[in-house]
Amino acid sequence: MLKRNPEPAASYSAPAGGSIDSMTSACVSELMNAATSFHKLHLKVTGIGSHAAHTALNDLYDALPGHADSLAEGYQGASEKLLEYQDVSPRSLSSVEDGISYLRDMYAMVTSLQAKMPYSEIVNSLDTLKDSINSAKYKLIFLK
Ligand SMILES: [Fe+2]
Repeated sequence: MLKRNPEPAASYSAPAGGSIDSMTSACVSELMNAATSFHKLHLKVTGIGSHAAHTALNDLYDALPGHADSLAEGYQGASEKLLEYQDVSPRSLSSVEDGISYLRDMYAMVTSLQAKMPYSEIVNSLDTLKDSINSAKYKLIFLK
């Protein structure tokens, strides 16, 4: 009898050797979850510099569902396969520093997906997601 391993808490870093299908669906789920995590952080930031963070987080959580949808539809169209999407809990973010660290992780996730992605148009479209991540990270680090 095989022992079933629990889902890792953060599944965005697909296991090494994971299929491109599973890496793509994990990325889609992560982007959808990230919109929720950043929206909640947007609602709770307070103190000095929090207005800039509140606004930057708003731009980010507005953009993420569109990126998730483009990736899912683009990949399913290119591969002519429907992906399976796992339900995983969104990450809890309790500070702007947590948010910045999550953005760094997301950037790394997208870069590793691009490295395996066989469709150049999706590699290209993932660059626009990295633009959104970079813009948010810049604002959260430097604008107060
Ligand atoms: Fe708001």
